[in-house]
Amino acid sequence: MSDNDARARLLRAMEYRQQFDERLGRIEQETPFDSVLDVDTTESVELWDLPDADQLWVGRNARYSPTPVRTVRSALGKCDVRHEEVTFVDVGCGKGRVLLLAAELPFRRIVGVEASEALCDIARSNVEKASVARDGCDRIEVVHADATKFDIPDDAGLFYFYEPFSVDVSLAVLERIEDSVRRHPRNVVLCFTGRGQPDGQGSDLEKTPVAASAAEMRAHWNLVEIVPSPDAEFYDSFLYEYVENGAPQA
Ligand SMILES: C[S@@+](CC[C@H](N)C(=O)[O-])C[C@H]1O[C@@H](n2cnc3c(N)ncnc32)[C@H](O)[C@@H]1O
Repeated sequence: MSDNDARARLLRAMEYRQQFDERLGRIEQETPFDSVLDVDTTESVELWDLPDADQLWVGRNARYSPTPVRTVRSALGKCDVRHEEVTFVDVGCGKGRVLLLAAELPFRRIVGVEASEALCDIARSNVEKASVARDGCDRIEVVHADATKFDIPDDAGLFYFYEPFSVDVSLAVLERIEDSVRRHPRNVVLCFTGRGQPDGQGSDLEKTPVAASAAEMRAHWNLVEIVPSPDAEFYDSFLYEYVENGAPQA
């Protein structure tokens, strides 16, 4: 790639990111969350700005950015699971917003997995603060781990992904989930939110969530529904179910 092409690409990415942040800012103003629970989930963070940035193994210039509140409620409301019987897992939970929203439903347990220790600390502090105003937060656990090494709970039945990582990492995580289902057969739903990573390449609507592209490459996952986001099409959610006798892989 020539210097000019590289510069044009960088400018496009910066412009896209600015538009992305402005849209998120507008959405956040419409649905106050942090002020209601006295928590800190709204502010996006570039992972390279974190105090533990040099210990992160995320493999790309990822960032923490929260899923909008209405999007999470609407997507989780569409997932066909028996809440009381399953553990909910947010893969890449960041500051823990989705965990707090999952606590509005009667999941047996709610687990957030996060690669950054600094973000885990914020998430744990948020859970503690929210528990003053909200029942059910004692079911939440925040685990500091790389998602590719995290031990999947035997009863995990709903996995939430909001654009945490690349296709390769997603494939490794999906393999672990499939191994877990083989060991402990059960229904599993995957909820992938976000139409691609906001890197300024292509438009929102051309894209599916990165981890959903990984699910398409595996034989055992069946797309059951696309849940339109009430906030913006970028945040549409793609729901997949585990099928035992999946199609043979290409
Ligand atoms: C876009 S944020 C989503 C945060 C949260 N799930 C939400 O929707 O509000 C993605 C998060 O995934 C985390 N992450 C990236 N790679 C990871 C990995 N390999 N293992 C665990 N967490 C990871 C990042 O640190 C970041 O906090």
